[in-house]
Amino acid sequence: MCGIVGYIGHRRALPLLLNGLRRLEYRGYDSAGIAVPHGGGLFIAKRAGTVAHLAAMLEHLNLPATMGIGHTRWATHGEPIDRNAHPHTDATGRIAIVHNGIIENHAILKAKLLEDGYGFVSDTDTEVLAVFIGALYQQYGDLELAVRTALSEVEGTFGLVVLSADHPDLLIAARRGSPIVIGVGDGEYIVASDATAIVEYTRSVFYLSDDEMAVITRAGCQTKTIEDIPTSAQLLELEFDLERIEKGGFPHFMLKEIYEQPTTFRDACRGRLLLQEGNVKLGGLRSVEEQLRQARRLIFTACGTSWHAALVGEYWIEQLARLPVEVEYASEFRYRNPVLYPDDIVIAISQSGETADTLAAVREAKLRGATVLGIVNVVGSSIARETDAGVYIHAGPEIGVASTKAFTSQLAVLMLLALYLGRMRHLSPTDAREIAQELARIPEKLQYVLDTTAELTREIAHLYAHAQNFLYLGRGVNFPIALEGALKMKEISYIHAEGYPAAEMKHGPIALIDENMPVVVIVPRDELYEKVLSNMEEIRARRGKIIAIVTEGDVAAARLATHVIPIPETLPLLTPILSVVPLQLLAYYTAVERGCNVDMPRNLAKSVTVE
Ligand code: G6P
Repeated sequence: MCGIVGYIGHRRALPLLLNGLRRLEYRGYDSAGIAVPHGGGLFIAKRAGTVAHLAAMLEHLNLPATMGIGHTRWATHGEPIDRNAHPHTDATGRIAIVHNGIIENHAILKAKLLEDGYGFVSDTDTEVLAVFIGALYQQYGDLELAVRTALSEVEGTFGLVVLSADHPDLLIAARRGSPIVIGVGDGEYIVASDATAIVEYTRSVFYLSDDEMAVITRAGCQTKTIEDIPTSAQLLELEFDLERIEKGGFPHFMLKEIYEQPTTFRDACRGRLLLQEGNVKLGGLRSVEEQLRQARRLIFTACGTSWHAALVGEYWIEQLARLPVEVEYASEFRYRNPVLYPDDIVIAISQSGETADTLAAVREAKLRGATVLGIVNVVGSSIARETDAGVYIHAGPEIGVASTKAFTSQLAVLMLLALYLGRMRHLSPTDAREIAQELARIPEKLQYVLDTTAELTREIAHLYAHAQNFLYLGRGVNFPIALEGALKMKEISYIHAEGYPAAEMKHGPIALIDENMPVVVIVPRDELYEKVLSNMEEIRARRGKIIAIVTEGDVAAARLATHVIPIPETLPLLTPILSVVPLQLLAYYTAVERGCNVDMPRNLAKSVTVE
């Protein structure tokens, strides 16, 4: 959600903080701010708008400070205006904090502070915390004690960094529910809400756990619980390099990430496909092998694009392993008093590993005694740490807010899981081998799709960029791809788009079809092909414009369509991995055509760490 960066060391802090904020901007981009010690007090600059706006305001400054904090915001409490931007300060203006998460009891705390004569300038919950810490500091004269006491009274979630003009050699970071990672350099520390702000300075990092804090000076860093019990930090090496978080010649991160898919798909399968044996090796699941063998039901839980991946996984696992699968929005699962049995396996799917609803669903499932697994991209993230076991998708950092490469990598892992569970049950080595061999060919087919459909989708986008609505239809394993195509379109181009199972069209959406309605139909040659052709006839009869994703060489579907986007032949079960790519490109080029900010779509955030 929002991005946090903090620095203490020997370099000038301001350029480093601004650079960190630029790296983190994909997490929130409605306002930004920094605070550094200066002239015995604090220098604070913050404003609504992007990090570039803030940087322009600070460009001419050459502040000597070698520590400071910064924040890029996605508003939850209080609209995105200058005074609501972080950092927020206490009543003296000498303590500043940046904060991700939500202080749920902010109203009660604020009322008490108002009674004690404190005033507030913003509408945020974070300012309440800053003023509270300041009030406790006045009382105790000890910043660390003030922070610990405040945090023990706070309800809700936080990832935060505190700085005080009285302590120009001290940063305090703490976490509950919102990630904080600390990069360890040579006599310097960089604190951030995710590793993208750190990787160009050091690869050595550690993550704070919930209710843990770090007391950081230039000489060293101590970690402890907020109850003051010392803890030991476990250093990790970051696996990705700077290149993975830069655009590398592409105009947008989203396009770069779409083009990375042949590589990321291969990376997700690397070392896991046992082609000869017709089997799959998933090291992360070894410890739960027996539970998976005994499982009577799988329940996937996820949000957004990850939820769509789960829907594809449902088809695959039911088909190949004949194991019943349910897919639940995490936000619904956590509150529906779910019925779980001891032999149920709950699998959370999350790119970021930090989505608040998905994390809460994991905790709910664990409380109810289910085995809980994770399919996650970000190594060391909360969901990765709180699940019993899991599989990383290894897609590398995904910066574009609209998820693309993470989706196809989730599909890769879900197909591996389907094969793995299938082989534990009735799937023959021959059938598994056929799928595994085709899976190994998918990266080159993805490359082919990119090479052959990019220009085509750009032309189609040009023709329909002014449409008010889009309808997406697919059947079977491609129904979730219709949902994902529609989601991509609305997320970044702001065109209203809906996905439907093709046959369901006649139960409502058909009323919308006229000559102004573009309908994207995913119609690869599979067992439902003929049925989808009939749906296309129905659209044509109402003069809808059909954009059809077809198997290369298919003349019958092409005859019914206004525009045809061919994808190469593959096993019917695997078509979603290829059919989604032109839909990502169509959304991308439509958004570009409409002049939208593709990587930072309005009102969205990369990782939604609030409910
Ligand atoms: C947000 C993002 C989506 C993403 C969803 C789930 O809404 O904008 O792109 O699919 O969160 O995120 P996760 O990190 O849990 O996969």
